[in-house]
Amino acid sequence: MAFDSIVRNATLPDGRKGQDVAIADGRIVAVEPRIEAEAAETIDARGYLLAPPFVDCHFHLDATLSLGLPRLNVSGTLLEGIALWSELKPLLTHEAVAERALRYCDLAVSQGLLAIRSHVDVCDDRLLAVEALLDVKKRVKPYLDLQLVAFPQDGYFRSPGAARNLERALDLGVDVVGGIPHFERTIADGAASVRALCEIAARRGLMVDLHCDESDDPMSRHVETLAYEAQRLGLGARATGSHLTSMHSMDNYYVSKLLPLIAESGMCAISNPLINLTLQGRHDAYPKRRGMTRVAEMRALGIPVALGQDCVMDPWYSLGGADMLDVAHMAVHGAPMTSREAIRWTFDAVTEIPARILGLEGYGIAVGAHADMVLLQAADPIEAVRLRATRLLVMRRGEIIARTPARTSELSLKGRPASLDPASYAPRAAR
Ligand code: FE2
Repeated sequence: MAFDSIVRNATLPDGRKGQDVAIADGRIVAVEPRIEAEAAETIDARGYLLAPPFVDCHFHLDATLSLGLPRLNVSGTLLEGIALWSELKPLLTHEAVAERALRYCDLAVSQGLLAIRSHVDVCDDRLLAVEALLDVKKRVKPYLDLQLVAFPQDGYFRSPGAARNLERALDLGVDVVGGIPHFERTIADGAASVRALCEIAARRGLMVDLHCDESDDPMSRHVETLAYEAQRLGLGARATGSHLTSMHSMDNYYVSKLLPLIAESGMCAISNPLINLTLQGRHDAYPKRRGMTRVAEMRALGIPVALGQDCVMDPWYSLGGADMLDVAHMAVHGAPMTSREAIRWTFDAVTEIPARILGLEGYGIAVGAHADMVLLQAADPIEAVRLRATRLLVMRRGEIIARTPARTSELSLKGRPASLDPASYAPRAAR
């Protein structure tokens, strides 16, 4: 039997080595140690790690690459970022939003990031960013899955017209219901917004993903309401709480009650370490709190937790490069979680776990799945996180859509030339 292509001698994320992956009609049709068959194209993985593509479950594509427009965030706080975004919004054009988003998607592809859940602000009556990103979604579909969240950045109740605009955005084809309860005028309004937004999701049969308790306020309680509504309305894993940074500061006794409630509801959680570590604790003298939510404790209770990037070069974060291994790497430090098991888990938290949260069909390196994959210059997932490994090759539906040369250093030490592969545990043959 002849296949379209075979990737030979790959290591898989589950540790299997020397695997061949055969591809036909854009799907994986065999994963075995040595496939005895012909293929139109053969790719030698040289023992490196072949993984399913990275998935970013929390991003803001309407704001990305806008750094410095119309000015920079001086305080570095979430609130100045929101104010700055409000200054930029009236200046946005459909073309500029789409152009920046498309440029970012190119960068994402080069990094093996082929699925993004992006929030899109619906507080502009023109729904300009919504229409631009719906356009982008169509244009990138051949190479990147883009899921959009209707996000009332300035508050579902607090911003006039946001409630109507959110429904309009959903009618236009935006996929997920968003919200920001901690930005409403009062705690009561925040809780009411969680209820209203979950009811919209339930009524429409959609997922709901709320920016939730993104503050240092130890008394913020919106995730409790979200868990309650997820349970009451039977949303389960269709409900997600993003950020949850206040949990870092909450009373430990209260958290001991809260976490089992979250687990019982079946809802998911998303932590965004790059942003949470830099935006939070800005009002603290020393010691300064970090804003990461309680990732290890939620994992221990079986709550699905994923890691997102949130922002790249925008009013909230001036760095970033569509590199989900950077996100995993930062989570290891910020949590901190340094056991081999936990570092290994961060790789899943930027691949398989967010793929499940997004509900991606045919994801993974398995027979029947889409032939979407990334070849990393690393011997295993821990090494990929450690090195933020080079994406040697990115494949979508069986076609190679990006290649990056291996990172090697040519050394000359006292006349002794050597070629150094940073993936130091990679097989000799791969060097
Ligand atoms: Fe966000």
